[in-house]
Amino acid sequence: MAYAAFRSIGAYAPTRVLTNAELSTLVDTSDEWITKRTGIKERRIAAKNEFTSDLGMKAAQKALERSDVSVDDIDMVVCATISPDYFCMPSTAAIISTKLGIKGATAFDISAACTGFVYALSIAKAFIESGMKKNVLIIGAEKLSAITDYSDRGTCILFGDGAGSAVICATEDKSEAIIDIHTGADGEYADLLMTPNGGSGSSHDALADEASSCFMQMKGNETFKVAVKTLTKDVKEILADNNLTADKIVHFVPHQANLRIIKAVGDALKMKKEQVVLTVSKYGNTSGASIPMAINDIYESGNLKTGELMLLDAFGGGLTWGSALIPFAPKQ
Ligand code: UT7
Repeated sequence: MAYAAFRSIGAYAPTRVLTNAELSTLVDTSDEWITKRTGIKERRIAAKNEFTSDLGMKAAQKALERSDVSVDDIDMVVCATISPDYFCMPSTAAIISTKLGIKGATAFDISAACTGFVYALSIAKAFIESGMKKNVLIIGAEKLSAITDYSDRGTCILFGDGAGSAVICATEDKSEAIIDIHTGADGEYADLLMTPNGGSGSSHDALADEASSCFMQMKGNETFKVAVKTLTKDVKEILADNNLTADKIVHFVPHQANLRIIKAVGDALKMKKEQVVLTVSKYGNTSGASIPMAINDIYESGNLKTGELMLLDAFGGGLTWGSALIPFAPKQ
């Protein structure tokens, strides 16, 4: 039987830094409020002519360089994004494939907001285990600045741009295999976090109002409470299903939405400080890119070693959620 191995990680963060101080010149907020309520100090913003596909392509290039897989061997590309280059089509995955020189591979986007990378991972695992694909490139890429309302202090302080990518390959060695992935969704909570305009559900009036057509809106406080509950429950379930306890996890990689959410979930799960991966202070919330950017951070700081067990835990618009148990399995 073929198993799916998490071979490599890469990420890209645009160079422009947007600080809390700068945001406090745009809306009624302060560095003190943002730091205390979210843990965010700064976030990255893509250039005007830098698209989601450019961010994704740069992250994917790094992931490919760090794997032993060439672009010719990639047979599927999945991009998780809520800020695609183009509304509906073509997919950002197809554009990234072409920018990387990948020819003829299956390519498509998925929409699962901040849980997108975990969903993409589950798709890669399923395709590989079924024998349909061998080398899958997955990407979480977001230019959230393009869909952020910089007059809304409830959201604009949170979001940033960036991308992360991983190469997932078939292996016969069970010790390298992604252990388990859980994903779920509940549309009952759709209105907590959404881009209400711009789709077929919009009125023509809203569509005509271009300025607000695709901006994100969030009921932050309600989302916060559901996030803590869901993220905690999801991890408890995946650990129990696999007869594991929190102390066996080397790197707990939660979605980087808010430091207070991460702390509440980490405490509820009895994770030690050194287990919890944190990047929210420097990148803010990058939705589908947040988890792979965080994995890349521990990789580039030399703290991610072969065989170490990662536990991913994501939550986002939809609502969606997902968790994954993954040993890091670079090619030896
Ligand atoms: O990635 C997907 C999942 N996303 C999340 O999980 C995000 C979840 N939500 C959050 O991170 C937090 O709810 C926020 C950071 C968005 C807001 O923090 P909060 O502690 O829930 O604040 P709140 O919405 O309850 O507002 C408290 C007060 C309000 O003022 P009053 O009514 O008490 O006078 C807000 O108007 O803080 C005010 N406020 C702000 N003040 C300064 C809200 N945003 C700001 C701001 N600066 N940026």
